[in-house]
Amino acid sequence: MAPTLCSRHRLLLLLFLLLPGGIQAGGPSFTVDRARGVFLRDGLPFRYISGSVHYARVPRALWPDRLRKMRMSGLNAVQVYVPWNYHEPQPGIYDFAGERDLEAFLEAAAAEGLLVILRPGPYICAEWEMGGLPSWLLRKSDIVLRTSDPDFLDAVDTWFHVLLPKVLSHLYHNGGNIISVQVENEYGSYWACDFSYMRHLSGLFRAVLGERVLLFTTDGASGLRCGTLQGLFTTVDFGPGDNMTEAFILQKEYEPNGPLVNSEYYTGWLDYWGAPHSTTDATVLARGLEAMLTLGASVNMYMFHGGTNFGYWSGADLKQSYLPVTTSYDYDAPLSEAGDPTDKLFALRDVIAKFQPVPLGPMPPPTPKMTFGPVTLTPVGALTDFLDVLCPSGPLRVPQPLPFEAVKQDQGFVLYRTPLPRSLVQPTLLQAPDGSIHDRAYVLLQGVYQGALERDGASGLLLRGERGAVLDVLVENMGRISFGANASDFKGLTGPLLLGGAALSDWLLFPLDPDSLVRSGWPPDGARPRDPRPGPAFYAARFLLPGPAWDTFLYLPGWTKGQAWVNGFNLGRYWPGRGPQRSLYVPGPLLRRRGHANTLTLLELESPSARLRARFRDRPRLDGTAGPPRPGTGAG
Ligand SMILES: *[C@@H]1O[C@H](CO)[C@@H](O)[C@H](O)[C@H]1NC(C)=O
Ligand SMILES: *[C@@H]1O[C@H](CO)[C@@H](O)[C@H](O)[C@H]1NC(C)=O
Repeated sequence: MAPTLCSRHRLLLLLFLLLPGGIQAGGPSFTVDRARGVFLRDGLPFRYISGSVHYARVPRALWPDRLRKMRMSGLNAVQVYVPWNYHEPQPGIYDFAGERDLEAFLEAAAAEGLLVILRPGPYICAEWEMGGLPSWLLRKSDIVLRTSDPDFLDAVDTWFHVLLPKVLSHLYHNGGNIISVQVENEYGSYWACDFSYMRHLSGLFRAVLGERVLLFTTDGASGLRCGTLQGLFTTVDFGPGDNMTEAFILQKEYEPNGPLVNSEYYTGWLDYWGAPHSTTDATVLARGLEAMLTLGASVNMYMFHGGTNFGYWSGADLKQSYLPVTTSYDYDAPLSEAGDPTDKLFALRDVIAKFQPVPLGPMPPPTPKMTFGPVTLTPVGALTDFLDVLCPSGPLRVPQPLPFEAVKQDQGFVLYRTPLPRSLVQPTLLQAPDGSIHDRAYVLLQGVYQGALERDGASGLLLRGERGAVLDVLVENMGRISFGANASDFKGLTGPLLLGGAALSDWLLFPLDPDSLVRSGWPPDGARPRDPRPGPAFYAARFLLPGPAWDTFLYLPGWTKGQAWVNGFNLGRYWPGRGPQRSLYVPGPLLRRRGHANTLTLLELESPSARLRARFRDRPRLDGTAGPPRPGTGAG
């Protein structure tokens, strides 16, 4: 039946009234439908099956490969942390270039059709150095982190006014792929329980990102009371060993009508130096995923691809004692550290396929790996021979030792030097009282190595020497605490050292920067080799690859502990005797193919292997001996 003129008019009027709203409703949107207890994507019920991946733990050249494999596993989203300390290395100095190009990562995910659940912190935990907070915050030594302490809030506000505007155009309703943004992280596990801090953050996110974005919180079941806030969607996190029913009942107390969400379903676990390698059973994991998906829950798997703590980025936990995290962040995740699909991945994909279509086509096979070597290293010289180039601005003279933060050293090493105040004819105890060494110290007298002291470990050694002899204490930061009651983890000599019971004073402090030096091509080719000696020293080698630059794993059998660089890139810490990690991942894109020279540089802190050799193998070893090296067993 033809409409009358009158009704046609009414129709036009109706259309006119509806149009602006009509266009909005037709545009992209991501919301919570509390009537139906579901997420709505573009107005339709939607559930995400997501995986965590950290761009700071994967070389940029490999982002597309990892994201492709995540999509091919059936995921429709990735969950991503933004580490503040990675992007604001010094107050007011921002770095979003190259490896740190957050927006390029978001676009790489979009290119694979993956949505993004963004977790900008400010605190992220992640077993990352200081949980992602910049250590320069501690330059104000009484700052109270993760609270409404004005000094902390000022720094957070300044940072988020740089970060959040970059995020804005990537929000889903603005045409991007970010469907939700997390506020803080597991805040309920922190001692402070400062609701005005959470309200401040929530207001700040709203002010910059607007009213339409879905903001959420994540906590373990016991943290919900202090971690949630009115106006933020409450999610929980738990692993396959936890009681799912109980966790979701607790989430329902805060979100009676919202969709169920597990924001961190643990596919594996992290490793600590000196503790056994962690693994999680794939069958149990897959069964737990199926149970959650059957309930209609949205799930993020933490981690789907763990990657590597390159450089000095690994964090630490504080339990009964200080527990530094290993360089590998393989996490026993479905995609291995080198990005290869595992049996666990296929078990999870089979579960996902019961609930939503997984992409057609085969999963990319493991990438080729290479074995070559041995490569023989040349001793370049003791660390103390190079203080002029490691610390070009010269030392600071202080009566009492200061921590790293007071001399604006964030990571790595500071050398503390003082003359012996008197002759020590009898062996005399050099003692580090409880809590004075964060985290390891390498002691030399007149350039002769005396041994190592360790936080919550060896706390003293005996010295003999003449008055005025040079006592050097090289202190290593092994990673600031990322999870624990108190993240104010100052580094260096954080208290006095005692010699024969009396505090040593009158120190020279050398904050060291080996990375700039090694990146610049040091040591030069043809440097005069020295005799290898125990104690902190550099070793270097040039080597050629037998073929293309494939992924490989660096083994340092018989070496003790230190830092390794390939072509100036810091691969992270090695500590084969302590374990359980025995090899370091060397991504192919760091290497130069056949015909081009590569360099390997080591800063060995204790003692080199007798034959000064390194090897490259085609597979990793993450489950080697855990615990202090036993005499005679060697390493590797
Ligand atoms: C899990 O929790 C629920 C609810 O509290 C309880 O009824 C059930 O017995 C628990 N299951 C196990 C295996 O402990
Ligand atoms: C955290 O530790 C720092 C130094 O390690 C200390 O000054 C501060 O009082 C501690 N804060 C809490 C809440 O324990």
